[in-house]
Amino acid sequence: MKYLILLFAVILACLACCKAAVVQITDENFTDLIGKDDEWLIDFYADWCGYCKRLEPKYHAAERMLSKSSHSHVKVGAVNVETNPGLAARFFVSRLPTIVHIKDHQVRSLKPTQRENDIISFVTMEEWRDVEPKSGLISPFSLLQRKDGWIYRQGGEKVISLFTMDTHWRAYWILDLCH
Ligand SMILES: *[C@@H]1O[C@H](CO)[C@@H](O)[C@H](O)[C@H]1NC(C)=O
Repeated sequence: MKYLILLFAVILACLACCKAAVVQITDENFTDLIGKDDEWLIDFYADWCGYCKRLEPKYHAAERMLSKSSHSHVKVGAVNVETNPGLAARFFVSRLPTIVHIKDHQVRSLKPTQRENDIISFVTMEEWRDVEPKSGLISPFSLLQRKDGWIYRQGGEKVISLFTMDTHWRAYWILDLCH
């Protein structure tokens, strides 16, 4: 009986530990998810990008490490740039994969990496303090950028077609840079 309870406790602990995972973020739920006081890592990827696929297991491993570290409050998300062109535009994603760090609505890009440790230390060693945040008009949280995202979601057909054109162009641009 004692062992049964122990086994049950172990199973519960496993469930609790594995529940946290990389959060899928979309154009629609981005604003609801990213609070002013939140700290986030977000990976921008596309299904056709080989480097993104290679990074994925390491990114997930980094998420698991962070969830068990003293920085477990940091949330880890991912954005598919093909299905979420609004966020890709808003963050000026020009290379895939791109990982950004968000804290106090300040956005910083990580150097391109395929190493789990680079992702973890950017947060736990607070390496982000040495990186300039995107500021002014290119900040994803500036008024103009917010309006952009808004136009994507609510805009009339004309505005949307203009932005779709831009999105196609952007998709090729990204393709080009994704080695
Ligand atoms: C955001 O929306 C997408 C698409 O509806 C969904 O798959 C995802 O789980 C949502 N993310 C969260 C954290 O609710």
